[in-house]
Amino acid sequence: MMNALIATRANKCLRSDVLAGLSLRRKRLPSKYFYDAVGSRLFDRITDLPEYYPTRTEIGIMHANAGAISERCGSRCLLIELGAGSATKVRILLDRLDRAAGYVPVDVSGEHLRAAAATLAADYPYLDIVPVVADFTTRFAVPERPSRRRVVYFPGSTIGNFDPPEADALLRRIAHLVGEGGGLLLGVDLRKDPEVLERAYNDAAGVTAAFNRNLLVRINRELGADFDVQAFRHVAYYNREESRIEMHLVSDSEQQATVGSTTFDFRAGESIHTENSYKYDVAELAVRAGACGLRLDDTWTDARGYFAVLHFTATPTA
Ligand code: TRP
Repeated sequence: MMNALIATRANKCLRSDVLAGLSLRRKRLPSKYFYDAVGSRLFDRITDLPEYYPTRTEIGIMHANAGAISERCGSRCLLIELGAGSATKVRILLDRLDRAAGYVPVDVSGEHLRAAAATLAADYPYLDIVPVVADFTTRFAVPERPSRRRVVYFPGSTIGNFDPPEADALLRRIAHLVGEGGGLLLGVDLRKDPEVLERAYNDAAGVTAAFNRNLLVRINRELGADFDVQAFRHVAYYNREESRIEMHLVSDSEQQATVGSTTFDFRAGESIHTENSYKYDVAELAVRAGACGLRLDDTWTDARGYFAVLHFTATPTA
């Protein structure tokens, strides 16, 4: 069963965000704009790459602990997935959950979400699926459904794509969204050998590079800009001080690009910082989440300790 799509204007800020980001002394572009239809498809290919261990590892953890995780979520829960993408991991939960009250996939990519929801509806005919096209970093409406408990599912270490203050704000909003006693099932990538990390974001086939550059392709198309896309190099490295992978697009030469009526200058070697992917320590995260109204009550991980799936319960708000 699939309900009408709930849409918000996820894209309305592309122009102003791009102009603001490129006007900074250290140029930046917000990573949420990676996910247009092409970007979402490229991202699905990243998750299949041999070097990109997170997706495979997280799915392994979900399969190995599906019973315990589903029990934690509880019977008749309403699952709300943030950044649902192709909605594949959630199937592991849906196969085990005791009478899910509904599934609310939230994603900025409307086209991709629609297709994912339709595929899921065919396989889970009795499930109440309510796709919401929204930028989950802004306020969005969660459809009311009778349920015993709301559980936010936030896999893929997407939390790591937010700077700590934004991640904390998001955790607070999740606690509020599920309400006291509600849950958060969170997938996080853990700190590890930087070589393993850097390989994951610099794949041999160049899919991550294409994903990164697609941001400029999109800006050219949607904002009528004239970036010479091939003149920007994909660079990803681990920043130890900040415990994060940084992705950049580095200008090969001195050049200019025009967005609407604004021209931006690039020095040779100048970068546009396109994304961060913070790597976590479970104990540290538990303390931070605790301050945001979420108590860690279960941790599942893989044998190598590469990735963790965590369950939190929202504590009473003061
Ligand atoms: N959140 C995941 C990560 O940081 C997935 C992801 C987001 C990603 N953007 C990416 C992976 C860019 C590779 C490249 O790993």
